[in-house]
Amino acid sequence: MRIIELDPADENLVAGTLEVERAAHAVDHPEGPPPHEGVFRRSLVHPSPDEETVRLIAVEDGRVAGTCNAEFPTRDNLHFAGATLQVHPDRRRRGIGSALLERLVDLARGKGRTEITIATLSTWQDGPARSEAGRKFLEKHGFTLALTSVNSRCAVDALDPDRERALLAVAAEAAGDDYEIISWIGRTPAELVDTMCRLDSMIISEVPLGELDLEPEQIDAELKEAKAVRNEAVGIVPVTTIARHRASGEAVANTVIGVFDDPDHRHGFQWITIVDPGHRGHRLGLHVKLVNLRLLREQFPQIRRIWTDNADINSHMLDINTTMGFEPVDAALEYKITLDS
Ligand SMILES: CC(C)(COP(=O)(O)OP(=O)(O)OC[C@H]1O[C@@H](n2cnc3c(N)ncnc32)[C@H](O)[C@@H]1OP(=O)(O)O)[C@@H](O)C(=O)NCCC(=O)NCCS
Repeated sequence: MRIIELDPADENLVAGTLEVERAAHAVDHPEGPPPHEGVFRRSLVHPSPDEETVRLIAVEDGRVAGTCNAEFPTRDNLHFAGATLQVHPDRRRRGIGSALLERLVDLARGKGRTEITIATLSTWQDGPARSEAGRKFLEKHGFTLALTSVNSRCAVDALDPDRERALLAVAAEAAGDDYEIISWIGRTPAELVDTMCRLDSMIISEVPLGELDLEPEQIDAELKEAKAVRNEAVGIVPVTTIARHRASGEAVANTVIGVFDDPDHRHGFQWITIVDPGHRGHRLGLHVKLVNLRLLREQFPQIRRIWTDNADINSHMLDINTTMGFEPVDAALEYKITLDS
């Protein structure tokens, strides 16, 4: 068995890596959105603009047996590395995961990183049973639990229309005339880029991180543009609704659902929802989410279900999601290890 870096031009190995992801999905997380071939392939040649991405693969008898996708931030959090790791279900318990992990650790050390995080799934409450393999594997290798997130799903029409209208009316009344709701699909309108950078730069300091040691990211217009270009190249379309504070002109609440540019793909992904701490208590979180959901239904009727994940301690967000009809499925356990510097 060899561990190599995946060459995006090697069709056999690219197809083999996708096959590992598909096989692992079918066994580990069958309820969740399956890997999307187009997005997977395009991501290999269009990495995120603020991360160096390394895709390691384990090759055994000419076939891909396991894969590890490592991301190294290049602007902020230079001490950090995040990774996913999967071994084909037919080839587990033969040391392949350990070999990939060992290479990942070497790579991270070589880049001067001192913290690596890897997530694995776990059963949540009375949801579908998940294997304990990931957890046991990571603990065996010295990782410790840093953050537990709950993965939830919601049908786009989970709310009864009357109930949805009533919730929207309550949220609109709580906001009064102080806020303007603005939505768009795709790129951020030019006149909102600076204020959206301000709000995006708050995210890491405002979301619960558990034991993860992360510093806030500084998002500027250039990075925002580069991310938008990358989304377009990969085939990811952000659907966004914000609340703008009329008096200051600042965006103070934001929610984004990501969809794939594929009329046959049925899943959307609820990414960030954030309300500026100075503007909480006006139901802006629920407000922007309900408006965004309506926009999604109108513009992307093929999307039937939305997925999201929230820290288990993020009770405000979980409450909003429950109100909207999200139901928990399983948990993502974020494990970390600290390396000597
Ligand atoms: C977790 C995963 C990557 C492990 O890959 P693997 O190639 O089977 O792992 P290894 O053979 O290197 O296992 C190393 C050690 O981890 C532990 N381990 C791995 N799988 C285990 C299981 N099912 N039950 C208990 N311990 C397990 C054992 O201590 C094992 O050593 P041993 O076989 O000598 O007892 C694989 O099960 C997988 O792809 N799971 C789904 C994806 C996932 O959860 N990824 C995130 C976690 S990295």
